[in-house]
Amino acid sequence: MTKQTANAMWGGRFAAGPDAIMEAINASIGFDQRLAAQDIAGSRAHAAMLAATGILSDKDAEAIGEGLLTVLSEIEEGSFPFSAALEDIHMNVEARLKDLIGEPAGRLHTGRSRNDQVATDFKLWVRDNLDAAEAGLLALIRALLTQAEAGADWIMPGFTHLQSAQPVTWGHHMMAYAEMFGRDLSRVRDARARMNECPLGAAALAGTSFPIDREMTAKALGFDRPAANSLDAVSDRDFALEFLSVASISAMHLSRLSEELVIWSSAQFRFVALSDRFSTGSSIMPQKKNPDAAELIRAKVGRIFGANTALMMVMKGLALTYSKDMQEDKEQVFDAADNWMLAMAAMEGMVRDMEADRDSLLGAASTGFSTATDLADWLVRVLGLPFRDAHHVTGSLVAMAEEKGCDLPDLHLSDMQSVHGDITQDVFDVLGVENSVASRTSYGGTAPVQVLAQIERWKDMLK
Ligand code: ARG
Repeated sequence: MTKQTANAMWGGRFAAGPDAIMEAINASIGFDQRLAAQDIAGSRAHAAMLAATGILSDKDAEAIGEGLLTVLSEIEEGSFPFSAALEDIHMNVEARLKDLIGEPAGRLHTGRSRNDQVATDFKLWVRDNLDAAEAGLLALIRALLTQAEAGADWIMPGFTHLQSAQPVTWGHHMMAYAEMFGRDLSRVRDARARMNECPLGAAALAGTSFPIDREMTAKALGFDRPAANSLDAVSDRDFALEFLSVASISAMHLSRLSEELVIWSSAQFRFVALSDRFSTGSSIMPQKKNPDAAELIRAKVGRIFGANTALMMVMKGLALTYSKDMQEDKEQVFDAADNWMLAMAAMEGMVRDMEADRDSLLGAASTGFSTATDLADWLVRVLGLPFRDAHHVTGSLVAMAEEKGCDLPDLHLSDMQSVHGDITQDVFDVLGVENSVASRTSYGGTAPVQVLAQIERWKDMLK
């Protein structure tokens, strides 16, 4: 058997190279190559700082800076020779830099460690993805606003327990999701502000004796400030966990909307028609048009939530500071990010394209005794009944209608008066669904005037 040679980066004390299985479990290059751009940006900022502080000559720093750009272009054009023997993106980049520029490459790692390096790279990656999530959420909210504005006064059933409850408006229902994704947006922004502290310069864990300038590297990489405790800086993965928990909540919202689209697009509901662009057919049943995108989005919450749980479990038992366990952070975050972005984009497309069936919505809203609460409120307002009595009288009228196989507006006045003698013809004004929704003008209520006011508020916020 040939004995592998020891690692060129850290193998000084090793007589032999790793077992093949050791290499397989240890190497992260298969996935952390996605950090290449961030790794090179971090190294360029570090090299420039080393020169500015006199730790490195300008000549060496320049060779490093230029060489790193060459490495980046090799990676971007796909000609870079990734090597599992070099473990991870950090050592792959540095080894290639050495091929390109020789000796000065070995000076780049002065005053830093892979521990602060990986924390910095990964934070930059997560930050980019928070920015992408912000854009995805904004696009989705805009699509919802467009739907809401078109159908601000379209009447549909509002549900509790998925039972017809009270009539509401299409615009109101769309705007409920705008609120949900709006909270996701605010969580994304909070997380970004909190995580924006630079780990670089924490070195392995204790800081460094070189006279580095952490303010300078932090600023160059767009961070607000350097992280204040070097032990924390290399062992913190809160930023990844916050990303995953924000993604989990947002995916849950996407999943709830997906569930509604699946129900609404069924032949039994016919509330919406999804576009061909976001549906699929069946290979055996020619009539089928399936809401696959909605179903897949609904399923994505499982893996995103799983990623959050997985990283929580990785982190929960780790003594300070860095442990190799933390290398398991990346695949979870990459997978969750990819699927969250895809789910947001697919949902935006579905919402943009879908067509609400105004007649079906209205028809469904007009069944199921949906104006019973309006009737009870009328008994309180006009006849002065205590609400509990009004509730009871209305319940009897619903039972009567059910027995006759009709809805509340179809009852005769004389039938109603047999339950409560003071009821007058005026009651029929509140039994229609139009009047019902138009009357709910309390702040945040379903009346079209309120819905339009909320749409305007959102438009102002998005300006
Ligand atoms: N590939 C490693 C990771 O992702 C980089 C940090 C390695 N640090 C170390 N001390 N071995 O976590």
